[in-house]
Amino acid sequence: MNTNRLFPQINGLLHGGDYNPEQWLDRPDILEKDIEYMKKAHINTVTMGVFSWAVHEPTEGNINFDWLAEIMDKLYDNGIYTVLATPTGARPAWLDEKYPSAMRCDEMGVRNHHGLRHNHCMQSPEFRQRVNIIDTALAHRFAGHPGLLMWHISNELGGYCYCDTCRKKFQQWLADKYDHDIEKLNKAWWTTFWSHRFNSFEQIDPPYKNGENCVLGLNLDWKRFSTWSATDFMKFEIETLKNAGAKEPTTTNFMEMFYDYDYHYMKDFIDVISWDNYPEMHNNWQTDADQLLERSFNHALFRSMKPSQPFMMMESAPGLVNWRPYNKYRRPGVHELISMQAIAAGSDTVQYFQIRKSRGSSEQWHGAVIDHIGTDDTRVFKEVEKLGADLEKISQIAGTISNNKVAILFDWDNRWAVDDAWALSNETKKYDRTCMDIYNEFMSLGVEPDIISSDMDWSNYRIIFAPMLYVLHDGIGEKISNYVKAGGQFLATYFTGYVNKDLLSNLGGFPGDGLYKVFGLKSEEIDTLYPDDKNSITLLNKANASTIEVFDYQELLRDVTAEVIATYNEDYIAGTPAITKNSYGKGNAYYIACRTNQKDLEFLYKEILEKANIVYTNLPLGVEKHSRYSGADAYDFYLNCSAESVSIDNVFGINMLTDENVNGHLSLEKYGVAVIYSSSSTSSTKSSTL
Ligand code: GLA
Ligand code: ZN
Repeated sequence: MNTNRLFPQINGLLHGGDYNPEQWLDRPDILEKDIEYMKKAHINTVTMGVFSWAVHEPTEGNINFDWLAEIMDKLYDNGIYTVLATPTGARPAWLDEKYPSAMRCDEMGVRNHHGLRHNHCMQSPEFRQRVNIIDTALAHRFAGHPGLLMWHISNELGGYCYCDTCRKKFQQWLADKYDHDIEKLNKAWWTTFWSHRFNSFEQIDPPYKNGENCVLGLNLDWKRFSTWSATDFMKFEIETLKNAGAKEPTTTNFMEMFYDYDYHYMKDFIDVISWDNYPEMHNNWQTDADQLLERSFNHALFRSMKPSQPFMMMESAPGLVNWRPYNKYRRPGVHELISMQAIAAGSDTVQYFQIRKSRGSSEQWHGAVIDHIGTDDTRVFKEVEKLGADLEKISQIAGTISNNKVAILFDWDNRWAVDDAWALSNETKKYDRTCMDIYNEFMSLGVEPDIISSDMDWSNYRIIFAPMLYVLHDGIGEKISNYVKAGGQFLATYFTGYVNKDLLSNLGGFPGDGLYKVFGLKSEEIDTLYPDDKNSITLLNKANASTIEVFDYQELLRDVTAEVIATYNEDYIAGTPAITKNSYGKGNAYYIACRTNQKDLEFLYKEILEKANIVYTNLPLGVEKHSRYSGADAYDFYLNCSAESVSIDNVFGINMLTDENVNGHLSLEKYGVAVIYSSSSTSSTKSSTL
């Protein structure tokens, strides 16, 4: 057994998803069938209680969980475990009627009407009081239940509230942050500009749509505060459960590249990272492989939050979703591919929204394991069933971890600040895309990067790529300097180190905070190109001096003491350095001063990987490789994310899905997956060792 397994009760990977039997309490025949079908589909886990508040507590104080207890017991008797959610994602009508402060206010400060979900005021004392009562009751009843795996806090926490309570909380939060000294805040926010000075914390509003929303420090602090507020609410729910005797681990389901909150802040307050994954397959603007690389990036982001343990894919859609402009069914075979991609990237679970399709309302046409037709022979059901069987074949992977040596820095603060800066072009800033393009280039070389924040631990990584790191948190200049000195390969790009954590420009040359010494250069100007403008660079010291196209951004460098790798060809900056490398201590600091396609920089990736002693290989187009390890055991996943069959060389080991020995050459059908086991402790990798 791998020691990093999330749940000792489950001998293998988790397969299941959101299950809402409360919608079918008057149909015991259907509830019976559900269990029969779940077992057939190798489902061993359900998530219950998400949005169940109105059934748990139909009128204030009238709490009854008997329906849930009965179903949980029955599931457990059938080998199916429960992830139990607190029901706070949506509120019963009686609650909003009696406690209107539970309803969120919009960005004009106007209170919402009752309805929808994920829209409560997380600071409302009345709301919290009701949450405390229902969560306490839930924990009293279910903590310690042998079928209970973990607590799922609320559901997809999100959004900002602009009510009076939140406004006052924001003011308190600011006062604490700036030591109750309004002049500290005025300095940090540079409020002398446009007469934006404040005399007291009480004068400060959230950035209302029709109010002050161009003090950039305020905008950023509001986002940080809203992250704090959601985290504070989540912690409140966790503490409530624990105070009532809950000992099981906790999670909350994150959403892909979610913009509202800094998940790097939230991650430390939950035991297990989980996220909801809804790829938009077969769309009309990108290949399936490119869409899946975006998923892969997200998996990496969530995996890297707690790198020494697996994460959970808490939701995904069997078949299709119903909330996109076009809701297209996944083509045959794609279900297995999407699900296996999650496992490959470090998830120990494949969970769905939802087990049974609801009969009415807004999600009645969303994909589910069991459809309205009610049979176990639909295409979707059969694909889920096959996946379930395959997950059992690879159950020993549970608890293994990835062990990557390359990381890409991705900071929420930086993302927000880049977007909010009145600079460059809002059409082409594309911070997220830039990070993903770098990820994709490493993946095409068979090297899987982690995605980490600048504040996380870097000690496991030999290469760190930090694109557009405009905001430098305190101490990051020194951290980069020490990292390179100690032998790391660090790559930065244009728009690096321009401002400090308060968004004040670093004086004395970019990249600031002492980094110009590490990189051996200063950036004097950043030029924004129109889409039709193009420049190019030429690589020096190359046999066939090749030319690479430059678009969107080009910086003019000065005081360059670093080695010049490429120079600009045209425009007023022709002949000046465009890519540089500075040997510094035992490592190297690379600077890429302009935007290019990452593919065009492949020579540089290869050079750096070689320096870092990391093996790479050019994978066929559309193929992803991911690895998980436990001691001497390695599990290499090869995913064919394209609709063409492919063949891959240099693959050795046992394909756990087919039990075949692969001796150098692996063929994969369209959307095909292979899980290759090998062990470095023995020269042979017989299937008997599995
Ligand atoms: C989200 C929610 C679910 C459901 C799905 C539909 O992820 O958490 O409750 O609405 O979307 O795709
Ligand atoms: Zn509020």
